[in-house]
Amino acid sequence: MAGFLKKWFRFAPDRKGKEAELDPGKMPRHVAIIMDGNGRWARSRGLPRAAGHRAGVEALRDIVRACVDWGIPILTVYAFSTENWKRPQEEVKGLMNLLVEYMRRELPELKQEGVQVRAIGRLEALPPEARRELERAWRETAGNRRLILNLALNYGGRAELVDACREISHKVLAGELRPEDINDDVLKKALYTGDLPDPDLLIRPSGEMRLSNFLLWQLAYTELWFTDIYWPDFRRENLRQALLDYQQRERRFGGLKI
Ligand code: IPE
Ligand code: IPE
Ligand code: MG
Repeated sequence: MAGFLKKWFRFAPDRKGKEAELDPGKMPRHVAIIMDGNGRWARSRGLPRAAGHRAGVEALRDIVRACVDWGIPILTVYAFSTENWKRPQEEVKGLMNLLVEYMRRELPELKQEGVQVRAIGRLEALPPEARRELERAWRETAGNRRLILNLALNYGGRAELVDACREISHKVLAGELRPEDINDDVLKKALYTGDLPDPDLLIRPSGEMRLSNFLLWQLAYTELWFTDIYWPDFRRENLRQALLDYQQRERRFGGLKI
């Protein structure tokens, strides 16, 4: 099929609906999501928090697929923060088990869809089984190019900056870098996301309006989008709304409108 036809077909189902159309030429290159509200979703249904986390995985499945369908090349999702260890041990254990289960169950389909799985955070502190599954997914999907799915696990923006400072300091001590040569670019490259562009759009569901230590450096000029719905209820129609709003935004990066 000719390239332009293929492109049209990809968006064709959307054209039938009454909804506004996404502009394929204005898609974000990188979308970041803070997957929040699982606990409250569960409580509102009289269910245990674990049921909320489980339902949150279904939302992630749908959103990964939407990114593949709509040609969004990078999706970074906040799954577990450096602060989330403060939660009851049972919940932490449940989340780690869910991660292992997710990787095992989803890997074949992720592979089929051309998804490259990666992770950012202090991964060495994750339970061995979770690390093993992540490494396997990482290795087996390394050649995929349709979507980079970047899982933030034991991730903290401050920890990331501390780790970057350490890495740079080692280079300075080894005589590979002079302090006066440290600039934005050197720091950016020392981050876990060193080879990725900054997110264009950040989505946080569940009504909270804070960053909770997510991608502190990278979000400097990111467009922010909030919704009250809880993450387990978030589906591609919600993503579509976020993208439509994003496409109306005027990004100035400190400059002036031309
Ligand atoms: C997000 O949902 C999942 C993680 C932080 C791991 P929460 O568990 O924070 O849900 P709420 O915020 O309590 O509703
Ligand atoms: C942020 O949500 C972390 C994740 C979604 C993984 P939290 O629920 O941990 O954030 P706070 O505590 O409300 O700021
Ligand atoms: Mg929360």
